[in-house]
Amino acid sequence: MFHETELYYFSPTGGTKKAGEIFCRGIAKTVKFVNLGLREKAIEQPDNELVVVAAPVFGGRIPSVAAEKLNRLDGNGKKAVTLAVYGVRAYEDALLELNQILEARGFQVIASAALVAQHSIVPEVGQGRPDEQDEEAILDFAKKVLNKEEKGEEDQVKVPGNYPYKNGMNMAVSPISLPSCVQCGTCASVCPVGAIRLESDAVVTDVQACILCMTCTAVCKKRARVLPSPLQEGMNQKLGALKDIRRENEFFL
Ligand SMILES: Cc1cc2nc3c(=O)[nH]c(=O)nc-3n(C[C@H](O)[C@H](O)[C@H](O)COP(=O)(O)O)c2cc1C
Repeated sequence: MFHETELYYFSPTGGTKKAGEIFCRGIAKTVKFVNLGLREKAIEQPDNELVVVAAPVFGGRIPSVAAEKLNRLDGNGKKAVTLAVYGVRAYEDALLELNQILEARGFQVIASAALVAQHSIVPEVGQGRPDEQDEEAILDFAKKVLNKEEKGEEDQVKVPGNYPYKNGMNMAVSPISLPSCVQCGTCASVCPVGAIRLESDAVVTDVQACILCMTCTAVCKKRARVLPSPLQEGMNQKLGALKDIRRENEFFL
């Protein structure tokens, strides 16, 4: 067991953080959380022997905001475990992208996993995941990572995915604020890309800047921040068939 590890995570609606935290508790006594979704210029550099990096899958890729931050880390030969967290559909090139970013930054990626969480746009898909069964599987993986570490095995991990990666998402749509919005400004303050601003009596969103991460919808206490209904209905239709599928987590050591 490590004394401490760092969890670098981007988790707009909490699923990625939850999955990452389960894993970290399996390998270390203390976890230091580094939120990649904060709009700060500087990024905290890792000081532990082994760091954990968890990112959600957006359109089969790592969200650009997370990739940009990770590209500013200095690995200096430190070990890393990567977790791509996805909502049942597919993770495509995301885990490969995550590993290639970290390797280019000087980390040695010793283990990886593609973990399933509730879909942040259609919550009926993967509802409640990671659940108890996932927790058991993730903790078992954590044990195997510790074993690999103890034995000093240095095998480089190989994960699925293609390079060049598939094109990133570019939808030019964003959540909207309903008339029930009280303009408290919480959505604007948490938006990881600064796409939301309050203007006299309206909440204005820059659709070009918005990455559709859903942070703003998740924090709105009034439930007044939602996707436009044609988009929500389209997503429900597109992903609805996945609600009865239990996709299993995949582990790479
Ligand atoms: C814009 C967007 C794109 C997504 N693309 C995918 C995808 O390609 N494949 C998939 O299985 N899930 C996809 N999801 C679902 C998320 O990967 C999943 O819900 C993840 O757990 C979200 O992390 P969070 O709970 O930390 O926000 C997408 C979600 C969003 C908001």
